Amino acid sequence: MIRSIEWIGSGVRFIDQTKLPIEEVYVETDQLSVLAEAITSLKIRGAPALGVAAAYGIVLGVKNSVQSDRGRLEKDFERAAALIKTTRPTAVNLFWAVERMRGVLHRNQEYSVREIVGLLLLEAKAIHREDEEMCAAIGRFGNELVPQRAAILTHCNTGALATGGEGTAQAIITTAAAQGKNISVFADETRPLLQGARLTAWELQKHGIDVTLITDNTAAFVMKRKKIDLVVVGADRIAANGDTANKIGTYNVAIIAKEHDVPFYVAAPTSTIDSSLLNGEMIPIEERQANEVTEGFGKRTAPYDVRVFNPAFDVTPNEFISAIVTEHGIVRPPYVVSISEMMKNVLQIENPLGNV
Ligand code: MRU
Repeated sequence: MIRSIEWIGSGVRFIDQTKLPIEEVYVETDQLSVLAEAITSLKIRGAPALGVAAAYGIVLGVKNSVQSDRGRLEKDFERAAALIKTTRPTAVNLFWAVERMRGVLHRNQEYSVREIVGLLLLEAKAIHREDEEMCAAIGRFGNELVPQRAAILTHCNTGALATGGEGTAQAIITTAAAQGKNISVFADETRPLLQGARLTAWELQKHGIDVTLITDNTAAFVMKRKKIDLVVVGADRIAANGDTANKIGTYNVAIIAKEHDVPFYVAAPTSTIDSSLLNGEMIPIEERQANEVTEGFGKRTAPYDVRVFNPAFDVTPNEFISAIVTEHGIVRPPYVVSISEMMKNVLQIENPLGNV
């Protein structure tokens, strides 16, 4: 399995996803600033992988405070947290991971600074390990939704590159294929940054899965002519009512799927659910630079000075989503009820005594 990011001794090693599929370049760093830039420039990307990177980023940000006192540790922690939180706004996993790391800092006041830094690294590794387990569980649960013979359409990249494990939506595809099901995949290229073409097609080929690359605007025609059995996508943030932010173009696919009576599934770990937001209107949507649209292929493809709107994500309203697959099982509409029930159980599992 490809490791999108891993801890190596005193720093991290990650694959530079902007170089794929032409070059497989790995970067090693012990500098938080390098990691933060890698997140902003999408060298590291995908909501769950961003959570893992954020956790390791906190460790990089505080590791020099071991020689110092608690005050310095807290300052370094806050500086690191603030920097990480400015990298990308939509994927909630990034914020979730920072807050989980903050919990370790606050719960362990009685330990020395060196010990706390050690505990923070253990927590970051736990976040990574748990993400890997969540991917496997999502693959197992989601496999139940996949018929013995299935043509599946997906959007963006939700594989090992986007997570700490085998992926979310893509883990469902690879699990079904590993079970001997007859799987073919149509991968949207995913304009403007081509995560589908550069990353998903590359990963699925490595898995030996039958993949056909299509431009985003071919999806409707493919649903009509090729008889797509299901759509499965990932998520960057899911509101309490099930509205789901994911890569720009996901909403289009959901509308098309509904029109063609094709089930539309979202796959994500519960760390992607933001129960504090009532609906998708409240999800902050990242807008990226115009040149991703006007010079996306290394060559100017639009007039100079043209106005560009380049949101990185859109929000699919819950009524388009047939089911959401998480590591705790499959939830169905009405999501206000099913998500809230599931999250209560998650809290109960994580914190059986109700300790803060
Ligand atoms: O801008 P990106 O490439 O980070 O966007 C990624 C996506 O939208 C993925 O579909 C989402 O994070 C789910 S990844 C398992």
